[in-house]
Amino acid sequence: MMQNSDERERLDGLLRERVLPRYRTLLAAVQDHIGGRVGGRYAFDRIQSGIHGLSHWTRVGCLALRIVDDLPLDGRPREVDEEAVLLAAFFHDSGRIGEGTEPGHGEAGATILEALAEGMHLDPATVAVAARAIRLHESNQSPLPTADRVAIALANGDRVDRVRLGEAPIAARMYDDGIWPSLVAPSTWLLHTVNQRRTWDELGDVLGTVTHRKG
Ligand SMILES: [Fe+2]
Ligand SMILES: [Fe+2]
Repeated sequence: MMQNSDERERLDGLLRERVLPRYRTLLAAVQDHIGGRVGGRYAFDRIQSGIHGLSHWTRVGCLALRIVDDLPLDGRPREVDEEAVLLAAFFHDSGRIGEGTEPGHGEAGATILEALAEGMHLDPATVAVAARAIRLHESNQSPLPTADRVAIALANGDRVDRVRLGEAPIAARMYDDGIWPSLVAPSTWLLHTVNQRRTWDELGDVLGTVTHRKG
């Protein structure tokens, strides 16, 4: 198991070098759809929420990338899965319209991604991997449904970030990826880091111009 400080360093690198740069371009690409209707759904309604908004998607992106990079490849190129993880984390709660238990929000988020994909010039095969992971991420089934490495990374990353609710992951609802237990302690550090103002300065003024435009 890596030392806590090593994990922090690794997550910090992923945040600065991978997640924030990609999310800056994704935010710009979806900006006109925030608060609007996409594929029949309200899109990015919760983007400013401290619970299910952009800061959560960002932490899940870091955690899920960290997880996927340690899972064995299962047939697709590493770059495809890393991009799928970033897309999946960015869109996984994009179809939420509230903060509580919301059955179907995985399907809604996947639908939004699929509806925007072509206009965003995203690779269809990568989008399919991400959309499958998004549909699976809210599953309450026990045992957990079979999932590929991208879906495992998204689900576990999402659940490790329950730290924002003051909760620890529920082991019975976690995929055994061999990694998540070592991310629980660093997830507190990640929560504070992502919530710092300077993190958002790195996203330029994109977030600052985000407004809800219900249509
Ligand atoms: Fe969710
Ligand atoms: Fe989530």
